[in-house]
Amino acid sequence: MSASAPLVLGIESSCDETGVGVVRGREVLANVIASSVDEQARYGGVVPEIAARAHLEAMRPTLERALEVAGVGIADLDAIAVTAGPGLAGALMVGVGAAKALAVTAGKPLYGVNHLVGHVTADQLHARGAEAVPVELPTVALLVSGGHTSLLLVRDLVDDVELLGETLDDAAGEAFDKTARLLGLPYPGGPSIDRAAADGDPAAIRFPRGLTAPKDRARHRFDFSFSGLKTAVARHVERAEADGAALAIGDVAASFREAVVDVLVTKALDACAETGVPRLLLGGGVVANRRLRDVATERAAAAGVRLRIPPFDLCTDNGAMIAGLGARLVEAGAAPSGSGFGVDSTLPVGQVLIP
Ligand code: KG4
Ligand code: ZN
Repeated sequence: MSASAPLVLGIESSCDETGVGVVRGREVLANVIASSVDEQARYGGVVPEIAARAHLEAMRPTLERALEVAGVGIADLDAIAVTAGPGLAGALMVGVGAAKALAVTAGKPLYGVNHLVGHVTADQLHARGAEAVPVELPTVALLVSGGHTSLLLVRDLVDDVELLGETLDDAAGEAFDKTARLLGLPYPGGPSIDRAAADGDPAAIRFPRGLTAPKDRARHRFDFSFSGLKTAVARHVERAEADGAALAIGDVAASFREAVVDVLVTKALDACAETGVPRLLLGGGVVANRRLRDVATERAAAAGVRLRIPPFDLCTDNGAMIAGLGARLVEAGAAPSGSGFGVDSTLPVGQVLIP
């Protein structure tokens, strides 16, 4: 990437990771993350007030560290980008407040951007000194984390992102977290269920695949629902207790994981077929799931779909992807956000930039 590519700092605080990244164009110069997941673990899920307070404490050291790692000063920046939504309102406010203060004092343009489009941008970033990765658009993108389960059709990062479907209830990661709690396993649920599933039989119990019945295909072809699955696991546990039978946790965990993975991959590949786009990008913390990656890899190859999975530290919430989106917007000549913009916890994915 040339030295004339925009140097952008990005701030992410939509959930429980405080992320600050610095990019020059598509090259990641720094990607520093502080997580409050250990504090959240005591409560078995993300508590918004705790997340907001943790962001306040982590923001300044994370920012200083990111500038130090990147080897740049605030005065060198061409622009600042910040997640304006979607996410937890109180958590978002900390990031937006910090970004505004920086932008005003340093006299830099500020871009309030969409978190989900940031996840898609992660696919175009490359490590310092590494070769640039080719931009592969249009693409279908499946974003799965503790906060979102969204299926997108991305033709252009800056101005053409379409929501194909999303979860109607729990996010995929949330389903892992809640099911882990039902099974008495620790938070975060994804890794605990993975560990428990290691010696389980994924075909032991046929748990429901939400919104895949023929009657759902018309209205909810690309939407997801995990609440029925969670209830089915709860009923299974209750029945085992009532019968005095030992609960085969490994089988329950493996069968649950199989149901989630099956629905995610089936719908994502259906979206590729229906839109005629032979590319699928995965993003979000649930991508840490080995079974998801394996099933997606296998079935994408069989369907002639090229699968892209960014490095894991760019899949989870991070500041580099937000900085990367800011750089795309600067390059496209987009006008910065107005100084009075606020956070939008339900910002629609079609809105890449807050005016
Ligand atoms: O993207 P992420 O770090 O940010 C938030 O949404 O905050 O995603 C965290 C989510 C949690 O719900 C966690 O249970 C899930 O990702 N997760 C996993 C795995 N590792 C983390 N889900 C399934 N399998 C995993 N191995
Ligand atoms: Zn996210």
